[in-house]
Order: sequence, then structure tokens, then C-alpha cells
Amino acid sequence: MKATNIFKNKNIMEQTKIAILDKGPYLVQGKITLVNKEGVSEEKEGNIALCRCGLSVNKPFCDGAHKGSDVLDR
Ligand code: FES
Repeated sequence: MKATNIFKNKNIMEQTKIAILDKGPYLVQGKITLVNKEGVSEEKEGNIALCRCGLSVNKPFCDGAHKGSDVLDR
């Protein structure tokens, strides 16, 4: 399924949406299950920002460390 088709499906859109912010994190909106490297899962709902630059000290979450860096410009 193409990414554009995923967001046209109302049921999926109501559950979860992921936006790639320009020179910023992945913004996840909706209900998700986040599984850490130990296999422990945690239910989340609302808006969370996931780091895609690798600089956050609070991974997988964005802590704003991407600001002032050119990592996401490449
Ligand atoms: S994207 Fe924000 S700290 Fe990595």
C-alpha cells in the first residue's frame, strides 16, 4: 500500500499518523505501542516526537538536539 493511500483510509488515519517534520523529528499522532530494546511495550496516545537525527540523549524521543545541527540537512 502506498503511503498516500494509508492516510486516505479513514480508519487508519483515526488511529495513527506519522509526519516527517522538515529538518526535525518524526511526529507520531494517535495510539501506538512502543516496544523498547528489552522487549517491554508501552502504550502511548497523543503526540510524540521520535528522533531521526541520532543526537537525542533521550532516544527514541526527540529532545531538540537536532536544532542547530546540520545532521538532517544531508
Ligand atoms: S530529531 Fe530531534 S533530537 Fe533528533
